[in-house]
Amino acid sequence: MKAGMMQSILRVESLSSGYGRVPALEGVSLDVSPGEIVSVIGANGAGKSTLLLTIAGHLRPFSGKVVFDGQDVTSMPAHEAAPRGMVMVPEGGRLFPFMTVLENLQLGAYHRVARERMAQTLDEVMATFPILAERRDQLAGRLSGGERQMCAVARAVMSLPKLLMLDEPSLGLAPIMVDRLFDKVAGLVESKGLSVLLVEQNVGNALRLAQRGCILDHGQLVKSGSAEELLHDEDVQRTYMGL
Ligand SMILES: Nc1ncnc2c1ncn2[C@@H]1O[C@H](COP(=O)(O)OP(=O)(O)O)[C@@H](O)[C@H]1O
Ligand SMILES: [Mg+2]
Repeated sequence: MKAGMMQSILRVESLSSGYGRVPALEGVSLDVSPGEIVSVIGANGAGKSTLLLTIAGHLRPFSGKVVFDGQDVTSMPAHEAAPRGMVMVPEGGRLFPFMTVLENLQLGAYHRVARERMAQTLDEVMATFPILAERRDQLAGRLSGGERQMCAVARAVMSLPKLLMLDEPSLGLAPIMVDRLFDKVAGLVESKGLSVLLVEQNVGNALRLAQRGCILDHGQLVKSGSAEELLHDEDVQRTYMGL
């Protein structure tokens, strides 16, 4: 089958968005195939969070289109989009610090279908993240940075997503913790057939997990290619890897 014939899990077409009337994202197009991990790389302020917030339905786009799993979800609020299987893990994870790990995970399964399957999903999640099983009754605010990101990803998994959108999960983590976290994400892609849209400032982190990537600069996509191509691109190395 030709690549173009396979239906994308996510297709973003000429998406523009911003705050008030101020644009932060201009004409961005990208797509993610089922089971694929795609990275968006950009410096601080490039528009990475704006992109994910707009796709997920937390921000209304100025123009453009978001098609998820064959359905037009443009401007659909997040609480309606999430039950269809798209979920975003925000920057820093945004756990509820005064709730336990278990309570945070349970909150992930808030929509009806996820709630009905909560016990089973919880067992799976605890098996995938044994550290969360150990810490299930601890307050989320007392987790280490790496554990917090794991808990945030696990909470997202509780909502039975088809597409996981991760906003700079490696930010502030020691390299060893980034490895552990990314191994878990790769495992979830493998075992659950998830697709991932990952945004990162760190090119190395972004591309070691992804098959494809693109570069976001001042709200516009300026380059895209396979992870291999981007890692060897001189502009990318100079601008984003300090080589
Ligand atoms: N809540 C907001 N109100 C106004 N401007 C914002 C807001 N959030 C982000 N911006 C602006 O939008 C642009 C893109 O920001 P953002 O998407 O957060 O970038 P990134 O996630 O790549 O660091 C920046 O110029 C930023 O200052
Ligand atoms: Mg951001």
